[in-house]
Amino acid sequence: MKKNNLTRRQFLGSASAGAVAAVASGAVPTLGNVSKKAQKLAILGGQPVRTKPFPSWPIIDETDEKSVLSALRSGIWSRGKMVATIEKRFAELVGAKYCLITGSGTQALNTALHVLGITGGDEVLVTPYTFVATVDAILLEDALPVFADIDPETFQINPDKLEEKITENTKAVLPVHINGGVVNMDKINSIAKKYDLKVVEDACQAILAEWRGKKVGTLGDLGCFSFQTTKNLTCGEGGAILGEDEKVIDRCYSFHNFGRPKGKYMARDKGGHPILGTKYRISTIHAAILNAQMERVEEQTKKRSENADYLTSRIKEIPGIIPRKDYKETTRTAYYKYALRYKKEYFNGIPREKFFSAMRAEGIPCSWGLGVLEGLPINREGLIEKTLNSKNFKKIYSKERLNKYREQNQCPESDRLCKEVMGFSGEFFIGTKKDMDDIADAVLKIYENRDKLVY
Ligand SMILES: Cc1ncc(COP(=O)(O)O)c(C=O)c1O
Repeated sequence: MKKNNLTRRQFLGSASAGAVAAVASGAVPTLGNVSKKAQKLAILGGQPVRTKPFPSWPIIDETDEKSVLSALRSGIWSRGKMVATIEKRFAELVGAKYCLITGSGTQALNTALHVLGITGGDEVLVTPYTFVATVDAILLEDALPVFADIDPETFQINPDKLEEKITENTKAVLPVHINGGVVNMDKINSIAKKYDLKVVEDACQAILAEWRGKKVGTLGDLGCFSFQTTKNLTCGEGGAILGEDEKVIDRCYSFHNFGRPKGKYMARDKGGHPILGTKYRISTIHAAILNAQMERVEEQTKKRSENADYLTSRIKEIPGIIPRKDYKETTRTAYYKYALRYKKEYFNGIPREKFFSAMRAEGIPCSWGLGVLEGLPINREGLIEKTLNSKNFKKIYSKERLNKYREQNQCPESDRLCKEVMGFSGEFFIGTKKDMDDIADAVLKIYENRDKLVY
């Protein structure tokens, strides 16, 4: 049987302060006593900590039904006037002047980058620890996503790693507020100002999160959101762009609507499509769902935070369990996912996937989270290499430039995180304190029984 033989240095480098103190002094941390309730791990045939399912998502009630029915009966199923009303409402909710609702977060990001002039030959600074759509939006503009490593504590892009990646081709930075946390926007904005870069926030996972009391999505040039089914504010599929410049948002409108100018119909022979566009519109039916869901998002976000903070207080001292942290300027976290590092060294080397299986057996679903599959961050996805090898990219970029790009595409902190990260779904946090206790008890139970899981 493999023993937990960490050196003091290894331990200090990775465990939380309380756990360090407890274990370094030889004391067993006072972690409560799960073993009294259920000694044997469920994966080994014992009684699970929990048998009840967690709250399911999305949540609907009569408000949603009425809203959708009214949209259905209106006979206007494509984008109608109602969408403009909801745009105003969403802008108010987040604290922006203007809003365009789109068919998805990916469309919002693609539109924002396109309208801000990002194009072939340009470079956009971005985190490797994100969902693929962030990077798709850059590649779709034929620009290069240049990956800057993450901050190991907050899991957000590390602003101190940005300047070394800036070249004469860098045109924008795309901070992603990952897991509902917030990027250090003071530093990002100051670097952007120094190098004259556009800032497009990917706030898809962080609706209502705040930096110094200001909501994310309003801190850069444009802010993009997703209303996809799993998101904290959802209508199945949808997205939004927020901005302060009416002309820019109008250009976003045109791009998302076949290149047609906003607010006026122009015949084709009168130049009805002044710019090249797409069709990235939301339907009135989806917008109607969004309208109803907006009623609850504030209260749900509050609940998510309360529960997440409580869970953190219960698990942060467990050796090998390191919850994601926030910067002190983060005045609100949105908890789209609750992310943490699982350090197997403290669990007698039990691989993360085995830990997941043990948690699931205890009635607590968990996973890698984020779509980061099997420790593969986005900068290592085959998609990047495939795109670099495309006919289009080879025409735009020289062989030397692409080779240099490949060489510099290194983000060791993100690689490490992707091997250790795990997450709980955000909807678990709209339930009760007891739900949090079940999660914490399951982690503790596995920790206490870690010797029995070694193979
Ligand atoms: C960080 C991030 N960016 C972009 C997106 C794309 O949003 P959508 O699925 O609405 O296109 C997502 C969705 O999961 C996301 O998590």
